[in-house]
Amino acid sequence: MSTPSGTGPVGPAKVRIRHLHDAKDRGRPFSMLTAYDQYSAQAFEAAGIDVLLIGDSVGTTVLGHSSTTGTTHQDMLTFTGAVARSVHRPLIVADLAFGTYETGPVDAVRHGVELIRAGAEMVKLEGGRAIVPQIRALVEAGIPVMGHLGFTPQSVNALSGHRVQGRDAAGADQLAEDALAIQEAGASAIVLELVPAQVAARITEVVQVPTIGIGAGPSCDGQVLVWQDMAGLSGFHGKFVKAFADLRRDLTHAAEQYRVEVAEGTYPGPEHSFD
Ligand code: KIV
Repeated sequence: MSTPSGTGPVGPAKVRIRHLHDAKDRGRPFSMLTAYDQYSAQAFEAAGIDVLLIGDSVGTTVLGHSSTTGTTHQDMLTFTGAVARSVHRPLIVADLAFGTYETGPVDAVRHGVELIRAGAEMVKLEGGRAIVPQIRALVEAGIPVMGHLGFTPQSVNALSGHRVQGRDAAGADQLAEDALAIQEAGASAIVLELVPAQVAARITEVVQVPTIGIGAGPSCDGQVLVWQDMAGLSGFHGKFVKAFADLRRDLTHAAEQYRVEVAEGTYPGPEHSFD
């Protein structure tokens, strides 16, 4: 696929964590998308997306749950395996599901090992200083960690809904302290979700590891979106989302055409039939 110069993928034949660090050092933003299944993952690989996240958002985008607290560890293993078997180049990151790590380092490592066995190359977990022991244990077990700060969807109930975090000075300071603490514990990258752009810029400046923003402005080292939002399939039009296609319209149109042609007897035609 041809791309304007300087906008190609950041990694070579296989994207590794060090390529994300190089990208940060070079000031070259990289891209991450969620992926949950074979065909979408292959399309994103063909598009040169650097990192694929099997997000626990699979619970809300595919499985019909109202929040990611409904996503189970078994769900994560199933969808991680599907994506990991389907692509070669992108870095594969999988979420530790709600309830699989909050209980302590032993549970975090046990579930992290299972995600790696399923094909993940890095695991993501939500939280700051409170989960430093879990991050340390995962890293000591040889499992690379991506942190997730700001609005942390698994805590949607405790946070009273989807709200921008770190708006006041104290909140912004806490986010920066959390970022430094999880970096110190061994996190190799940090997602910042629903954070004011200037706070995300400050965190991106003070940490050495790459930050990846979703609703966190343009200064993060990389960006991530849920793919069904990016492609206009979900119909979600949050302020931070840009829909780069209208898949909901196109898919509805295709299904409608199919229904009409079946009803009028024009599909299947002779070219779709066996002699
Ligand atoms: O599960 C997910 O899709 C995520 C992104 C919002 C970063 O964690």
